[in-house]
Order: sequence, then structure tokens, then C-alpha cells
Amino acid sequence: MKKLDHIAIAVPDLDAAERIWREALQLEWKGWEEVPEQKVLTSIFRAGVTRLELITPTAEDSPITGFLERRGPGLHHICFEVDDLEAEMERLKEQGIRLLNEAPRAGVGGSRVVFLHPKDTGGVLVEVMEKKKG
Ligand code: CO
Repeated sequence: MKKLDHIAIAVPDLDAAERIWREALQLEWKGWEEVPEQKVLTSIFRAGVTRLELITPTAEDSPITGFLERRGPGLHHICFEVDDLEAEMERLKEQGIRLLNEAPRAGVGGSRVVFLHPKDTGGVLVEVMEKKKG
């Protein structure tokens, strides 16, 4: 795991959440990005060497819709960057960590990501991502 790439917070209302992080907490806002494969819109902030992402569902069947219904707004996942996603997936499986998706999915900025089962990581949803090459 190279570095903590981002922390993602699930929110039902992007405008209200952006006011908190942009105006009250004064993080530098970088822009929006939609991730159609995960049916979310992300609002991205720089936070020193890492980023904060507000994520909100764009469809009823988005995984974030169910999360917000069950848990309400709050911390959704943390994401670590790796150099070689497939190698890391193999290594994690050998360690007995279950993956929520067996094949990498498309993430923000052309990255590829997998999510680890929170029951195997102490109750925290962990995303592992490989940045777009080149
Ligand atoms: Co993420």
C-alpha cells in the first residue's frame, strides 16, 4: 500500500456537504466527477497529500443509496493506492481477505479499483486502487 489516496464520505445532499467542507473547513475544492459504473457523483477536495471525496448516489440502485438508508451520511470508505492491482488482489486473497468485486472496476480519474470485505478489515470498507498509467 503506497499511500492513503482518499477518504470517501457518503452524503445525501452534495450542496450542503460541500458548504461544510469548502466554506467551514476550507478545503481546496478540485471539481466533480461522475463514476457511472458505481452510480455515484463525487465532489473532490484536496487535503494535503490525500483527498477527501464526497459521494452521492445518481440512481436508486446505486450502492450508496442503500448505505445512506441503512447508516445515514458519514464515512463510507478509505482508499489506498498500489502499483500493481492484480498482484495486490492475489496477495490479499492469500491473506484471507475477501474482495467485494472479483474483477477490477473503473474508479475516479481512469483508475481501477477493488473493494475489500469490511468484515475482514475490522469493519472498515477499504478500496485499493491503481492509478491510470501514463
Ligand atoms: Co473511493
